[in-house]
Amino acid sequence: MKNFINNIPKAELHLHIEGTFEPELMFEIAKRNQIEIPFSSIEEIKAAYEFDCLQDFLDIYYQGANVLIKEKDFYDLTYSYLEKCAVQNVRHTEIMFDPQTHTDRGISFETVILGISNAMKDAKENLNVSSLLIMSYLRHLSEAAAFKTLEASLPFKHLITAVGLDSSEKGNPPSKFKNVFKASIQEGYIPLAHAGEEGNADYVWEAIDILGIKRIDHGNNSLQDPKLVEAIVSRDLALTVCPLSNTALQVVDDLKNHPLKEMMELGLKVTVNSDDPAYFGGQINKNFSAIQNALTLSKEEIYQLCKNSFEYSLLDKDSKEKHLTELTSFYNTNR
Ligand code: ADE
Ligand code: ZN
Repeated sequence: MKNFINNIPKAELHLHIEGTFEPELMFEIAKRNQIEIPFSSIEEIKAAYEFDCLQDFLDIYYQGANVLIKEKDFYDLTYSYLEKCAVQNVRHTEIMFDPQTHTDRGISFETVILGISNAMKDAKENLNVSSLLIMSYLRHLSEAAAFKTLEASLPFKHLITAVGLDSSEKGNPPSKFKNVFKASIQEGYIPLAHAGEEGNADYVWEAIDILGIKRIDHGNNSLQDPKLVEAIVSRDLALTVCPLSNTALQVVDDLKNHPLKEMMELGLKVTVNSDDPAYFGGQINKNFSAIQNALTLSKEEIYQLCKNSFEYSLLDKDSKEKHLTELTSFYNTNR
């Protein structure tokens, strides 16, 4: 089963580039930028990665991002993640980035996006991993601040496919961003959002009805409301589920109690993703192995999850078909 999981072609649809920042690289970049970090060793950093809730994690995650200053820093961060994709048979990935985490520290939007997107271009060429970008608005900040970010993104519109909504969910409902999502859609960005991670089912309703999102990041708490589940199924919206993130942030107490299988049985289109792999103890294949083991998922279920990852990606029809053909051929020879 382990080999099957490692080798099956897959796409990752929920990944924050700032959340891929491994302690080793963080030290290296901090050193070359001559920035002090409040840890003296890699072990000390890892020991700090114990979280009680989303906010606990976000405080450390934003602090880690402080050492990213130059275009090369963003390039190295992104390329390092894409190398991990290649060895895990991730053929395609949809990368979220949080511009405000950097622009609020005086780093230009251009520095951030050129570093990330040049690494994406090189990885396509050198590693055969395709990727696209989701610009995420920080929901603990104001809608006016999100509008400024939208404005700053426009010269680089050709590099961005979608907009997302992340950071502290509770107290920051999707409706707070109604106008900026409307404007983002008018600019041609596809709307996505985190919803129902810590927030309740009403937040998911708002995200689908008010923001008009095309895919739900996490979505766990949708199960609180059978009518909502029905709506998600009938509108054919996928959920980007992140098992190790859910246990690390205590959204789920134990992987054995994770709702992923129940979601699948309810007809929801589920995908498996790593969210912030450097912080939550594992890349995408570790997420697959852990949830497979906890819920005794069959090869057929793993295949279905990977199929969903391509079908509900933002790729064009031809690319989806190409990946699905490779996936099905892998499954038929390894089932
Ligand atoms: N930013 C990075 N990871 C996140 C998560 N799991 N939820 C909300 N915001 C995030
Ligand atoms: Zn996330």
